[in-house]
Amino acid sequence: MFDPQNYWLFGYGSLIFKEPPHVVERVPGYVENSVRRFWQSSIDHRGTEEQPGRVVTLLTHETFTKLGGEFEFESDYTVYGVAFKIDPKYAEEVREQIDYREKHGYQPVVLPFHAKSGGNWSCIAYVGSEDNDAFVGPETPEAVAKIISTTVGPSGPNIDYLVNLEKAIRELHPENQPDEYLERLLQLTKMFKADSV
Ligand code: BEZ
Repeated sequence: MFDPQNYWLFGYGSLIFKEPPHVVERVPGYVENSVRRFWQSSIDHRGTEEQPGRVVTLLTHETFTKLGGEFEFESDYTVYGVAFKIDPKYAEEVREQIDYREKHGYQPVVLPFHAKSGGNWSCIAYVGSEDNDAFVGPETPEAVAKIISTTVGPSGPNIDYLVNLEKAIRELHPENQPDEYLERLLQLTKMFKADSV
């Protein structure tokens, strides 16, 4: 699966606003048959053991449906992000870094990536599958937003992760409809935060 000469990472979460090192190309695009949800808990980046935060994972439509997820938004059918090509000279080093950074529940999987400019190829994405300890499973946007509005971890406030991700996706794909799931979550999170001060 890992070919240092052809090491492409698909970023759909924090990789987009906190890029991996030694990127030599970045290509906006998407993966199909997948849904992005904040259904992975975070005790090492955006929360703590006592107050776990929420971060994104990717689910196939099949898993999402099996778990009782509902396709509420137009944006639930395609997950937009960026493919990063890593300099082959540093591929092994970057792989080790990302493996370490995403050690809490994420595993690398190979996915078919579609560039918006045309063409498709395989990318590696870090996914928290339903059988990892940090996987939370179906939570409504309201429930997720309540958590994100209060949690803080070693990488900073959980709300900053959401703000950065929503902004990055909007700016990367200006001709798209905004990602309604991310927008809704942000709106709710800001509301809960305002209510708590
Ligand atoms: C991402 O940005 O694609 C990502 C990185 C680590 C874990 C999950 C997603």
